[in-house]
Amino acid sequence: MSAAVEILPPDTRDESSRRALAVHRVREDFPILSQKVRGKPLVYLDNAATSQKPQAVIEALQRYYAVENSNVHRGIHLLSEQATQAYEAARARVQRFVNAASTREIIFTRGTTESINLVAASYGRRHLQPGDEVIISWMEHHSNIVPWQMLCEEKGAILRVVPINDDGEFLLQEYEKLLNPRTRLVSVTHVSNALGTINPIGEIIAMAHRWDVPVLVDGAQAAPHLPVDVQALDCDFYAFSGHKLYGPTGIGVLYGKARLLDAMPPYQGGGDMIRSVTFEKTIYNALPYKFEAGTPNVAGAIGLGVAIEYLEQFGLENLAAYEHELLSYATPAISRIPGVRLIGTAREKTSVLSFVLDGVHPHDVGTILDREGIAIRTGHHCAQPVMDRFGVPATARASFAFYNTREEVDALVAGIHKVIEVFS
Ligand code: ALA
Repeated sequence: MSAAVEILPPDTRDESSRRALAVHRVREDFPILSQKVRGKPLVYLDNAATSQKPQAVIEALQRYYAVENSNVHRGIHLLSEQATQAYEAARARVQRFVNAASTREIIFTRGTTESINLVAASYGRRHLQPGDEVIISWMEHHSNIVPWQMLCEEKGAILRVVPINDDGEFLLQEYEKLLNPRTRLVSVTHVSNALGTINPIGEIIAMAHRWDVPVLVDGAQAAPHLPVDVQALDCDFYAFSGHKLYGPTGIGVLYGKARLLDAMPPYQGGGDMIRSVTFEKTIYNALPYKFEAGTPNVAGAIGLGVAIEYLEQFGLENLAAYEHELLSYATPAISRIPGVRLIGTAREKTSVLSFVLDGVHPHDVGTILDREGIAIRTGHHCAQPVMDRFGVPATARASFAFYNTREEVDALVAGIHKVIEVFS
């Protein structure tokens, strides 16, 4: 919260009140947060599903369509040149954001799901043989399960799953046992959307590399909450979405090491991904364009660049520290409510609180909270194996962002007490 904190009067010395004042100022950047829903002030705690957008992003989208709209890499007219420049500037911003070595390693996609499907379809189809193995974990989102199942089915390969413990933590020792000469790829989430667990991703990558196995990291829930450095992690692929990162929907990123991407066949064919086409032979374009067939989501990419610029003014470490503080406040407050059981109690967590309430279906929890203006997600969170692991059909999930406040946590606690009243 550094930028906002700086504008506060110097006599505001107490750190937590400084932060609280700062967050109230930050909230003014997000127009949607000041509205009422169902006659109550909106308490938006569904940030793991999608986060809200700052005014800067909304204005960038509006400006793009009002005065800048044009196709990229195709026109010699001014608008096209400007749109191309803005699109490529967004790519450069993403490159710096994740500390990739080159913009050639940043592919714009529709989102994390498409990024993972791209690797499965291109790298996976090229490298997997019958009997080969792909490793994922028990806490994956469906988008990091199903593409590998489809690939394994097609190739006669085997999907191996790393188990998790009762706190929802990745079991490194079990993972070590699964790595073997038939392993061709590891694909693991950085942060679990259903549990909030932060995985020891550096160790997971290093262990795979000892077997020369590349690692794809699903960063959908990590990129909005943790500083990501793909070179320090030494991951081979890193996927994330714009809409969870305070940017637009329909835009996402696949980072890949240039050496791997260069050797991979295209994922889709079409315009812009070619150098030349004849009926006899097509020569593919260079990176990153080889993987960006068709007109891309130009506005989305620009909006994502602006979202990153917006976040960077605060410093990702500061945002992460604030969210951590909020989680530390919320966790005991929610878990001491009678009948509440937290699902996901890992030592390392980001700001997700999944819980079940004795005798009440999570959908009923969500419905009653909604009447109070509190938005959470209920269901299996596209992670049905996680629900099976914990023996529940669904959970209620509150997920926080840096614009959430302690007062909103208090509202959630009061809302859960209301649910208990209704059902008692
Ligand atoms: N994957 C998103 C979530 O966890 C939609 O809610």
